[in-house]
Amino acid sequence: MKVPDYIAKLKPYIPGKPMEELEREYGISGSIKLASNENPLGPSPKALEAITGVLKNLHRYPEGSSYYLTNRLAEKLKISVNHIVLGNGSNEIIELLVRTFLQKGDEVIIPEPSFLMYEIMVQGGGGRPVKVALKEQVLDLNSMAGAVSSKTRMIFVNNPNNPTGTIVSRDDFEGFLQRVPSEVIVVVDEAYIEFVRDTACPVGIDYLDGDKTVVTLRTFSKAYGLAGLRIGYGLMQKSLADLIHRIRQPFNTNLVAQAGALAALDDDIFLKKTIETVHKGLDFLYGEMEKLGLRYFPTQTNFFLIDLKRDAKSVFEKMLRRGVIVRPMAAYGYPNHIRISVGLPEENRRLVETLREVI
Ligand SMILES: Cc1ncc(COP(=O)(O)O)c(C=O)c1O
Repeated sequence: MKVPDYIAKLKPYIPGKPMEELEREYGISGSIKLASNENPLGPSPKALEAITGVLKNLHRYPEGSSYYLTNRLAEKLKISVNHIVLGNGSNEIIELLVRTFLQKGDEVIIPEPSFLMYEIMVQGGGGRPVKVALKEQVLDLNSMAGAVSSKTRMIFVNNPNNPTGTIVSRDDFEGFLQRVPSEVIVVVDEAYIEFVRDTACPVGIDYLDGDKTVVTLRTFSKAYGLAGLRIGYGLMQKSLADLIHRIRQPFNTNLVAQAGALAALDDDIFLKKTIETVHKGLDFLYGEMEKLGLRYFPTQTNFFLIDLKRDAKSVFEKMLRRGVIVRPMAAYGYPNHIRISVGLPEENRRLVETLREVI
């Protein structure tokens, strides 16, 4: 089959396998999954109720502009609806940005390691990823600004960064923005922003009306517990949103997802409980890692990296056989690390016990 060279060269993204599949493969049951940075509490109960309520309408097409969700988001964020584009997960917004604004051969600056989909989508769109290494696990904004060339079209700033869990500070971000030409799109991916405790963390929406082109990505997959629904959004200048609306599918977010996200958005109790669970879980796990003598990267997210000081693959396998699913990090360039997502208190305890047994 004749395909473009840049498609043939793509390395596929390997997602964490569903629990059921792993259990079947390894002949285990009662396992816990702490591998994909999902919400340990499950979905927002208000979202579940709303979803049940709309199931009777499944014979209808969804509302193409996601009218109610877009309006509620605009109200909450205190911006005009014209700045909002919803997507089938924030992943779709990444794809739409690439399809709308990138031409073959354009360069996109990507931190490394970071969320693997940036590179895949850019390469799949015929763009040229220009990777800039992190500095001590933090995005090196100085080098990223230095990597801008006349061909640069876009820069991804994953804040906090997956998989290191680190943030860039407001001062560093503003210094970086000053050095970036206004025609370059700075994409600030805030998939984990709700978990951030460090008050020095900037938020992309503060730069929406500035003289630089800043697009913010947010998702309902993490703090709102709706990863399976696939819904996220981008906040951007109206002129950019207008262009994306021209190429997106008219019903890119489905009826169930729109209803679930709308209800989750106002489920303040669930959001608060989620954040508390994650923060308490992190504090517990940090203490336990110290007792185990394991180095970890302090995080601003609901996951963190543990340095096992040995090939992590075999530790991952042994944990899996004991029913604890974590993420080995070789694909991200950390062959000695596993990434764990914070679970419920009993899941965290089981993780620690299993880790202790295995190492
Ligand atoms: C940094 C980052 N951005 C985006 C996403 C994708 O989120 P969504 O489920 O909204 O597509 C993830 C998911 O893991 C992520 O880690």
